[in-house]
Amino acid sequence: MNVRQRILDHARHTHLSHGTLVYLRPLRESDFKYAQQYFHALSARSRYMRFMVPTKLLSQATIQALRTAMSAPDCGVSIAIVDHGPPIGEEPIGGARIVPTRRRGTCEFALSVVDVWQGRGAGHVLLKEVIHLARTRGYHRVEGQVLTANTRMLSVARRLRFAARLNAEDPAVTTVSRVIYSL
Ligand SMILES: CC(C)(COP(=O)(O)OP(=O)(O)OC[C@H]1O[C@@H](n2cnc3c(N)ncnc32)[C@H](O)[C@@H]1OP(=O)(O)O)[C@@H](O)C(=O)NCCC(=O)NCCS
Repeated sequence: MNVRQRILDHARHTHLSHGTLVYLRPLRESDFKYAQQYFHALSARSRYMRFMVPTKLLSQATIQALRTAMSAPDCGVSIAIVDHGPPIGEEPIGGARIVPTRRRGTCEFALSVVDVWQGRGAGHVLLKEVIHLARTRGYHRVEGQVLTANTRMLSVARRLRFAARLNAEDPAVTTVSRVIYSL
């Protein structure tokens, strides 16, 4: 990685609740070498909460969907990185993506934080990033499908003023949504 890229990568940063510095940057092709490691750092429960079905393997379809979202102008994928410095280097601790829905002006988000980093504010940081991605792409509304049992995600969404509505056909799923105001 060249120096310019590193400066750009580190331009957007924030602190987690215990003070750890976290960088936010767009996902890029070279990050896919971490994909399996990241996936297996999510517990079976976390994977279930993220994909809504028991998921043992990271499928090529999921990787391909991420590649598409990474490059499409109406989508966005960001990752949260902790940089431990040499020799450990960068650790991806979470990620968020948005994709358009069929409704004009509305996008849908999904996000995850690896288990050892959960409960330290990274989910909050990434949901704020979702709002940033949606706003900078001109969306006026962002929503997410969350398992109703996922109290942690619902709590993060509520704190960032997302409204929550039980899905009428399937109350096991809750839709969280928020209007995005332009700057
Ligand atoms: C949901 C998820 C993204 C949250 O990330 P996180 O880094 O743990 O979240 P944060 O630390 O920012 O916030 C955790 C919140 O949940 C609350 N919380 C912590 N443990 C909890 C628990 N066991 N049950 C309910 N709430 C809990 C915290 O108090 C905090 O609430 P607050 O914002 O009102 O203070 C993360 O747990 C995750 O990746 N889960 C698996 C994938 C997933 O569920 N994705 C969402 C589908 S779109």
